[in-house]
Amino acid sequence: MIVIMFGPPGSGKGTQSSLLKEKRGWSHLSTGDILRSEVKQQTELGLKAKAFMESGQLVPDQLVIDMLFAHMDGAEGAILDGFPRTLTQAQALEAELGKRELDYKVFSLELSQEELETRLTGRRVCSSCGTLYHLNFFPPAQEGQCDSCQSQLEQRPDDSLEVVRKRLSVYFEQTYPVKAFYEELGKLKSLDGTMDKHEIQNSIHMNIN
Ligand code: AP5
Ligand code: MG
Repeated sequence: MIVIMFGPPGSGKGTQSSLLKEKRGWSHLSTGDILRSEVKQQTELGLKAKAFMESGQLVPDQLVIDMLFAHMDGAEGAILDGFPRTLTQAQALEAELGKRELDYKVFSLELSQEELETRLTGRRVCSSCGTLYHLNFFPPAQEGQCDSCQSQLEQRPDDSLEVVRKRLSVYFEQTYPVKAFYEELGKLKSLDGTMDKHEIQNSIHMNIN
């Protein structure tokens, strides 16, 4: 089973994917996390992706499609977080899942633009284990320090208000149409992204076998 977490920047895709991974033991494939790691290691792909990511643009389709399919090899249960993000990516994934005879379900997290801006500008991420925090909603016990591994918390470079607004406009132009694609296939389940994170997780569980 493949679970696709769909939604705008800051809607909680990463938060829900981590909870689901914990519960089911499936692999969590976040194209954003994989790309950030490529950038950090200064690989050829990372060097190509860096400027797109820093300015809030999407990385070109073929680079992301090849990267994701390589990571999906052998996965029977996987959570896709942040992919697909264009119709080209959605069509490529549809063909690939058909070839691998894998069933899937898409969960779309819905929030207003104002709520998304608050979520993203207040987000902090552990520099070592990647645990997600929010200055208001999920603050760490000790300011600036991860509760799980005590490493330093960081703000993502693309979480400044200026880049957040760019990412949101890119989402509505290029990614939003993917929702209708899955709606027409009868694969989409919309969820209220403003609910408590555990309530959202329960709804996801109730909708997968
Ligand atoms: P990516 O890393 O995927 O970023 P994104 O889609 O913009 O999404 P975010 O990670 O910002 O948000 P999220 O939905 O995961 O929310 P989170 O759980 O953290 O992509 C980054 C970049 O990589 C892109 O801009 C692009 O350049 C490139 N890229 C990636 N994939 C690509 C692709 N397929 N094609 C092309 N380019 C690609 O939650 C946000 C905050 O809210 C956190 O602080 C969290 O603690 C808090 N929160 C979560 N849930 C709740 C809740 N229920 N209540 C209160 N607070 C909550
Ligand atoms: Mg994320």
